[in-house]
Amino acid sequence: MTVKELVNELVEKHGTTHNSLMPVLQGVVQQERYLSEEAMLTIAEALDISAAEVYGTASFYTFLDTVPRGKNVIRVCKTISCHMQGKDEIIQALEDALKIKVGETTDNKRFTLLTANCLGWCHKGPVMLVNDEVYPELTPQKAVEIIQEYERNTK
Ligand code: FES
Repeated sequence: MTVKELVNELVEKHGTTHNSLMPVLQGVVQQERYLSEEAMLTIAEALDISAAEVYGTASFYTFLDTVPRGKNVIRVCKTISCHMQGKDEIIQALEDALKIKVGETTDNKRFTLLTANCLGWCHKGPVMLVNDEVYPELTPQKAVEIIQEYERNTK
């Protein structure tokens, strides 16, 4: 399916009002794993809004990626509670294990390492999200073990 067909399908499902923007964006990211410029332009056209508005919404919600990502996207919460509970050590351990920095994707395209704003698990920090899965109460070692498990299960 082309991006255009995908957008058309999503617009048909969610409608062309302003409220359709988020579900359409999410639908595209789910399918394509990221939001290409072509997709943004097509959405803008379909919903009759500016591309800047689409881009603004997409980049405001950091869950909507605008560059290609790895098969597994890791997001470590960087907000205050998790920060105080040691998120820096978690990030450091993941960077060392994956040999990438935050914002980068491994050469084998298996992992992208990102940070995110509060994931709503502040009482159980530090927390990371791998794809849709939440991992609370992390230690550096636990975080690395979780990633190794994904590594084993990702083709
Ligand atoms: Fe990290 Fe809320 S501060 S989950």
